[in-house]
Amino acid sequence: MERSCFLLSITFLLVLHLQYSSIGTVGAAQTNITTDQSALLALKAHVTNDPHNILVNLSTTTSVCNWAGAVCGARHLRVASLNLSYMDLTGTIPPYLGNLSFLVELDLRNNSFRGLKSTFF
Ligand SMILES: *[C@@H]1O[C@H](CO)[C@@H](O)[C@H](O)[C@H]1NC(C)=O
Ligand SMILES: *[C@@H]1O[C@H](CO)[C@@H](O)[C@H](O)[C@H]1NC(C)=O
Ligand SMILES: *[C@@H]1O[C@H](CO)[C@@H](O)[C@H](O)[C@H]1NC(C)=O
Ligand SMILES: *[C@@H]1O[C@H](CO)[C@@H](O)[C@H](O)[C@H]1NC(C)=O
Ligand SMILES: *[C@@H]1O[C@H](CO)[C@@H](O)[C@H](O)[C@H]1NC(C)=O
Repeated sequence: MERSCFLLSITFLLVLHLQYSSIGTVGAAQTNITTDQSALLALKAHVTNDPHNILVNLSTTTSVCNWAGAVCGARHLRVASLNLSYMDLTGTIPPYLGNLSFLVELDLRNNSFRGLKSTFF
C-alpha cells in the first residue's frame, strides 16, 4: 500500500507537470488562491475517514496557506506543497487536485487513498 501510494504521488506530479506545461501561464493566470482552496476542500470532501481530525480545520474561514499539510510558495502565495503523509486518512483523490497549478510537491504516503478517477487521465 505504501509503495503504491508513493507511485501514485509520482504519477500525480508528472500529470501536473504536463498540465502546467501545456497550459502555461495562461492557465495559471486564470486561477488564484480560491482555486487552491476549492481543490483542497474537494479533497477533504473525498476523505471518508480522518481518525486524527487532521482536516477538521480546513474551512473557508482559514487561509489555505495555514491548512494542515499545505505550504504556500513565497513568490506566488499559492499552494506549493501538500504533505498529508502518515495521517491515517482514507478516501479517494478527486480530479480537483489537478487545479493546484503551483503544486510542486505532493506526499500522500502511508494513507489509504484510492486511485484517481479515470477522467483525470
Ligand atoms: C479568484 O478568481 C475568481 C474569478 O476567476 C474571482 O471571482 C475571485 O474573487 C478571485 N479570488 C481572489 C482571492 O482573488
Ligand atoms: C482546529 O482548531 C481548533 C480551534 O481553533 C484547535 O483547538 C485545534 O487544535 C485545531 N486542530 C487541528 C488539527 O489543527
Ligand atoms: C512529509 O512529512 C513527513 C512527516 O513529517 C516527512 O517524513 C516527509 O519527508 C515529508 N515529505 C516531503 C515530500 O517533504
Ligand atoms: C503506516 O501507518 C500505519 C498506520 O496507519 C502504521 O502502523 C505504520 O507503522 C506506518 N508505516 C510506517 C513505515 O511508518
Ligand atoms: C477544477 O477542477 C474541476 C474538476 O477537475 C473542474 O470542474 C473545475 O472547473 C476546475 N476549476 C476550478 C477553478 O475550480
